Amino acid sequence: MIKLQNITRLYRSDEIETTALHDINLSIGRGEFVAIMGPSGCGKSTLLNILGTIDRPTSGAYLFDGADLAKMSEVKLAQHRARHLGFIFQSFNLVDDLTIFENIELGLLYRGDFKGSRRKAVEAAMDRVGIAHRARHYPHQLSGGQQQRAAIARAIVGNPDLILADEPTGNLDTENGAQVMDILHGLNKAGATIIMVTHSPSHADQATRRVDILDGQLVSSVAQVL
Ligand SMILES: Nc1ncnc2c1ncn2[C@@H]1O[C@H](COP(=O)(O)OP(=O)(O)OP(=O)(O)O)[C@@H](O)[C@H]1O
Ligand SMILES: [Mg+2]
Repeated sequence: MIKLQNITRLYRSDEIETTALHDINLSIGRGEFVAIMGPSGCGKSTLLNILGTIDRPTSGAYLFDGADLAKMSEVKLAQHRARHLGFIFQSFNLVDDLTIFENIELGLLYRGDFKGSRRKAVEAAMDRVGIAHRARHYPHQLSGGQQQRAAIARAIVGNPDLILADEPTGNLDTENGAQVMDILHGLNKAGATIIMVTHSPSHADQATRRVDILDGQLVSSVAQVL
């Protein structure tokens, strides 16, 4: 599904040049559940942002089902994201003045689905993460665990085949973190490919593959027996 070839990402300011990623080569197959680990500042979010096409590599190729996304136009990339991707962030990133229903529906508006089919999809996504009873609430009226489950519903409402999660359990207690992991496992069993950045060794152990990054370089990529 995914093939990264010699991906490098430099950040240049007037005097400083930071190499956030250096010569990353990585292939990920459909149906994998990949955990990305490494110390703060090693390049995990940069890698996830490139995988999510919200950032471009300075050099290298990003093949997705054979097409090089590193060279694709912004219009084409927006279509690619709407069709294939779901994002989950550490800090939920829900819109404060929209209800939970409206937040989740946002994931579909760019695709031009009709109102009735949007409602069905939003309700199915809310059911899946157990927050249907909070549809009319606003994000600040929900607990952290509920907000993250709403954010997962927003990410999956369009049935993405690739889910990218940047420390999805980072702001949650053990129980809510375990619930989020259960939801991700369910989505993976249903066919979604998942790439998750985590600082939690026990959550990383639940993935089918563990990728370690250090100072912008990939140091290991190991299949795990569950
Ligand atoms: N917009 C930017 N401009 C300049 N440097 C940046 C920018 N974004 C990230 N960097 C640098 O790139 C490197 C990798 O950052 P990144 O956010 O990918 O780390 P991370 O592994 O996700 O860290 P954390 O675990 O703290 O989230 C860091 O040295 C960071 O300072
Ligand atoms: Mg990060």
